[in-house]
Amino acid sequence: MYKQLLRPLLFQFSPETIHRASVAALKLAGHIPGGRALMRATCSFRHPSLEREVFGIRFPNPIGLAAGFDKNAEAYRELSALGFGFVEVGTVTPKPQPGNPRPRLFRLPADKAIINRMGFNNLGLSNMLKNLRRRDPNIIIGGNLGKNTLTANEDAPQDYLKLFRSLYEYVDYFVVNVSCPNVKDITALQNRESLFEILDGLFDFRRGQNQYRPILLKISPDLTNPQLDDIISILKETPLDGIVATNTTTSREGLRTNSKTIQSIGNGGLSGAPLTKRSLEVIRYLHEKTEGQYPIIGVGGVMTPEDASRMLEAGASLVQVYSGFIYEGPRFVRRICKFLKLSSELKQTEE
Ligand SMILES: Cc1cc2nc3c(=O)[nH]c(=O)nc-3n(C[C@H](O)[C@H](O)[C@H](O)COP(=O)(O)O)c2cc1C
Repeated sequence: MYKQLLRPLLFQFSPETIHRASVAALKLAGHIPGGRALMRATCSFRHPSLEREVFGIRFPNPIGLAAGFDKNAEAYRELSALGFGFVEVGTVTPKPQPGNPRPRLFRLPADKAIINRMGFNNLGLSNMLKNLRRRDPNIIIGGNLGKNTLTANEDAPQDYLKLFRSLYEYVDYFVVNVSCPNVKDITALQNRESLFEILDGLFDFRRGQNQYRPILLKISPDLTNPQLDDIISILKETPLDGIVATNTTTSREGLRTNSKTIQSIGNGGLSGAPLTKRSLEVIRYLHEKTEGQYPIIGVGGVMTPEDASRMLEAGASLVQVYSGFIYEGPRFVRRICKFLKLSSELKQTEE
């Protein structure tokens, strides 16, 4: 029904308007008595075979919502009711910021893709803290951290540390995001030296805490193999807990949408179906080179249940979706979970 009726209607409006309206509608549904229970009953799917223990956290299923949808942690309860096994909120920055000028979000239906240059628009740390204060401990929440656009790269470690300290007791795991192509020069922080500076502060703070919070690094699909090797050496040399692979790409290769349209859209990160192959490659590379020793959250171009299954087979411990959720609708997670359950049953009968 979503693809036949609702999606054609929603796609008539600007993507950003629909995004805001969707978050508002989700929150509203959550406020109606029985609203969340109804969403859970119609959209989520639970089964013991879907449960996973990754970096010390027990996930009800391996399919999460990727960062960028619930930037301010406003609708994580409702998103959990839609069946997501975990919700990554953010990217949050210490101070609120408006992001890049509009338009900054574009659909490419012929490619089942999205281009965005949102630029970390968010309401800032204090607002997120307010939203997470009375959080449900049964919902697994990841906190995706970024620096303010106006913070110079050499001061970035302070931004990440401030967010990390303040959110420490409110989220279950952290993601250091230095791979967004839409914040000027931030991807330069993916080099060894800058990463060590950012991460060391977080490791030091964590050492003094009673609770352990896993720290992951979100990387770009545009890294070369030598750059991926650098990331692997950081994994081996530090207490970093894992990798989120991948963010959006700056590549425009192999798109069906005509080049004039692509040119008129301009800069931004591409997500959705054109990213599937590259994200899988990056995950497989990291998994094989590290002999599966580090958890990887696979994200990028999961548009079908089969894509999610392939990502797990390539070495991801967990999977996230964003564009697939936009194109496939609110029952997408349920479809993936049912498929994974069936696949695991088939495997068992074959064995
Ligand atoms: C509109 C939009 C906003 C995004 N914002 C963020 C963000 O704030 N932080 C982040 O780490 N990733 C962000 N992403 C990237 C996604 O989390 C994900 O890594 C990427 O879209 C690839 O997954 P997909 O192909 O399933 O969309 C954003 C993606 C989109 C489409």
